[in-house]
Amino acid sequence: MATHKLLLLPGDGIGPEVMAEVKRLLGFFAKTGMAAFATEEGLVGGACYDAHKVAITEETMAKAHEADAVIFGAVGGPKWDKVPFDARPEAGLLRLRKDLGLFANIRPAIVYPALADASSLKREAVEGLDIVILRELTGGVYFGEPKTITDLGNGQKRAIDTQVYDTYEIERIARVGFELARRRRNKVTSMEKRNVMKTGVLWHEVVEQVHAREYKDVQLEHMLADAGGMQLVRWPKQFDVIVTDNLFGDMLSDIAAMLTGSLGMLPSASLGELDARSKRRKAMYEPVHGSAPDIAGKGMANPIAMLASFGMALRYSFNMGKEADLLDAAIAAALAKGLRTADIKSPDATIVSTSEMGAAIVGEMERLAA
Ligand code: IPM
Ligand code: MG
Repeated sequence: MATHKLLLLPGDGIGPEVMAEVKRLLGFFAKTGMAAFATEEGLVGGACYDAHKVAITEETMAKAHEADAVIFGAVGGPKWDKVPFDARPEAGLLRLRKDLGLFANIRPAIVYPALADASSLKREAVEGLDIVILRELTGGVYFGEPKTITDLGNGQKRAIDTQVYDTYEIERIARVGFELARRRRNKVTSMEKRNVMKTGVLWHEVVEQVHAREYKDVQLEHMLADAGGMQLVRWPKQFDVIVTDNLFGDMLSDIAAMLTGSLGMLPSASLGELDARSKRRKAMYEPVHGSAPDIAGKGMANPIAMLASFGMALRYSFNMGKEADLLDAAIAAALAKGLRTADIKSPDATIVSTSEMGAAIVGEMERLAA
């Protein structure tokens, strides 16, 4: 059996707490012999800044390049509000995404049957929901230059961010969207603001071209991103795969998370280009939620988004679809038993801690695998 190399980067806030549950899951795989993982661990974000005055070290970057998959917790917190912009915790995450070329960020929003009432939307609007937000992750306003604040000398300052997209960046993310849709319900909704932004005009044009050239069998529709956000809370089941840029994808995926009941439920996979020779791609797996400093250290965090992110690693990096299905079933089973972390609590549920939820899920895996 091949040994898969993992780099674990727990990060800040609740990151280490939810990563501990991934380690518990790795223990299950080691014990059962279902898969072999070799893990290394590193610092990222504020934790790394405290130790090394940077958000990620060159040594950790080198390990990330070598790993078969990076498993990422969360970064950031008020403790680091005043550190230099280039060394802020988020810079570590953005460098990993950029340097590893992880342009395709897959954020599935799935409503588990037991949680249909945890959403702020009505049960009928979200019950059975299964959609994907596909976010472009290495371009747009996150990385565009210039990105500056200039003192104008008259008591005023000017801040500039640059939104920039080249044809190839839109083509490759569109292709990932169409490929995903073909294996799902065959529909892609592309979101941009072509009524205001030049990048939106090009985005729309290129998505149309890729569709006409290579994916005529997939249903394609376009929405302005603001209207798309509205539709996402009005009737989310109309969507299958939503493909959008880096900034809109950041916002729309937080909205999609709340459809599922909590930010603590949404996993994500960030993938690079397929290497023709090795047939592998660089990949990082991270929950959509952040470091949640308000509840850090209290054992209250929901580990499901982190565990489900690891499930995506099983599926996308290690071709272990069966094991990923097993993990999904174990999560559903733990929820069906009425176990809830505080973020998804409901009137007659049992409130459990991060580690109790993790232990229950791994326990369900043992039961289901037996
Ligand atoms: C996310 C986060 C990050 C982002 C932050 C932590 C930089 O919000 O992954 O959605 O904006 O991409
Ligand atoms: Mg975000």
